Amino acid sequence: MLAENLKVLLATTNVLAIKAQNFHWNLEGSNFPQYHAFLDTYYTDVYGSVDRVAEYIRTLDAYTPGSLTRYAELSQIQDQIKIPRARLMMEELYIDNAKMIEIVKQIFSNANDVNEQGIANFMAERQDAHGKFGWQLRSILKTDRE
Ligand SMILES: [Fe+2]
Repeated sequence: MLAENLKVLLATTNVLAIKAQNFHWNLEGSNFPQYHAFLDTYYTDVYGSVDRVAEYIRTLDAYTPGSLTRYAELSQIQDQIKIPRARLMMEELYIDNAKMIEIVKQIFSNANDVNEQGIANFMAERQDAHGKFGWQLRSILKTDRE
């Protein structure tokens, strides 16, 4: 259960990192500098968690999926093959980011059930990171008040 859910997290994380980098490269509009920089921070953080997730799967004596085909099968978020408008990119990432929080919370709970404290601790860190990004994306999406 725990290893299987970590496989889903690994796949979803990879798909999200690729999507965020795609948006980082291709977004256009007057907010380009801010969005471009924000997305750099975002995909770097998300991609930075991949190796630890993969190695926890091996620690649990399961094999780590490592192919694009498996990631597409296992991911809980949709790949994006188009280039949406900048605001739609942010809306999509907000929803995907919320999905990541859901997955991470579930794994935190699974890890606690079997006393895997290291994994639980790592999931707590990821929840923190995605919680902060959720706040930032929500703030980007708010209509200007001035
Ligand atoms: Fe870049």
